[in-house]
Amino acid sequence: MSNNFVSRLKRLGAAVALLAAGAAGAAQADTIKVGIIGPYSGPFALQGKNFQAGVEAYLAQNGKSVAGHTIEIVYRDLPGANPQQARALAQELIVRDKVQYLGGVYFTPDALAITPLLEQANVPLVIFNAATSAIMNSSPLVVRTSFTTSQTATPLGKAAIERGTKKFVTAVSDYGPGIDAENAFKKAIEAAGGQVAESIRMPMNTNEFSPIMQRVRAAGAEGLFAFLPSGPPTLGFVKAFNDAGLRQAGIRFFSTGDLTQESDLPALGEAASGMLTGFHYAVSHDSAVNRAFVEAAGKALGDASQLSFPAVGAYDGMRVIAKMIEATAGKQDAAKAVAAVKGMAWESPRGPVKIDPESRHITQTIYLREVAKDASGKWINKEIQSFPEQGDQGLAK
Ligand code: PHB
Repeated sequence: MSNNFVSRLKRLGAAVALLAAGAAGAAQADTIKVGIIGPYSGPFALQGKNFQAGVEAYLAQNGKSVAGHTIEIVYRDLPGANPQQARALAQELIVRDKVQYLGGVYFTPDALAITPLLEQANVPLVIFNAATSAIMNSSPLVVRTSFTTSQTATPLGKAAIERGTKKFVTAVSDYGPGIDAENAFKKAIEAAGGQVAESIRMPMNTNEFSPIMQRVRAAGAEGLFAFLPSGPPTLGFVKAFNDAGLRQAGIRFFSTGDLTQESDLPALGEAASGMLTGFHYAVSHDSAVNRAFVEAAGKALGDASQLSFPAVGAYDGMRVIAKMIEATAGKQDAAKAVAAVKGMAWESPRGPVKIDPESRHITQTIYLREVAKDASGKWINKEIQSFPEQGDQGLAK
């Protein structure tokens, strides 16, 4: 070999090493961007603001720096269930903003529009809310820190039967989480000897509930079970139940906790009094971790009375994302990031939680709660029974 050739080889080797170092340096960028998609405007804006409050509470308590990298949050507004817009926003975050992680997503149809992008983009998605069981099957790069409606409705069905109500009408929004809730509640009450007299599915954009209430009354049931996505429709639905006289007629009202989020309780007042709900998080949950969370998230929101469950999904979601950043030392490796959080367990403001290694969905305590006044006269979701270590029954075959 000529000396000339050897020195050229050496120079080439040095150039390759330099390039590789440069690439590694770029991958370990000082700033790691996290795109958070949520409804920050429109009728569901309070839910998006709760996402932001949860994210900010996490960063205020833990700092913005993880393993020497600074987290930068990029919020993108998706006001309603709009799969096309969801996909476009996620694409923009990935391609233009170069986010390494995606989080947020309030509505199920939006989550399902984003998951097909993840593998090619090498980006994990941590879902802070969307609650249909099957989302987890749509990509191996999805992790969820919220709940599913199967998870919340199953123990509620059991508790409803134990409290002596046997014959029900179910009324749910006609899309993923509603259908899951209907199926889970029906399965739980039938297993305990109850029955569903009628199952009503309501179009997602309905705000006129009096005809539904007439059907509930006509079915001659002792109890109503309902699910609607939390926001203006849930407030309208609970009011309509009262206004139609169903409460006065002695019909018992059971629902997932989406219908009694704390920010709605002052407006509902007596109309919701005594409602029994199944859910993963109450702002009044009695623990030191929750008190610290409520203080930090309430401060971020500017008004603690507006705090409700989307904030806790976001807060715990940020913990998961921080762990992913740490486990990959800031490099973009979505599969490794997701693998690192399988089995991760911690104490959330809601109670003890764990990312189930099989489903990548959160295992948690589901509480039976009653809408009641606390000692100071404030309406709360009072936890009255606990169902610990609930996985997502919705994916069971
Ligand atoms: C959903 O679309 O999955 C969803 C939205 C709001 C909720 C629950 C589920 O309160």
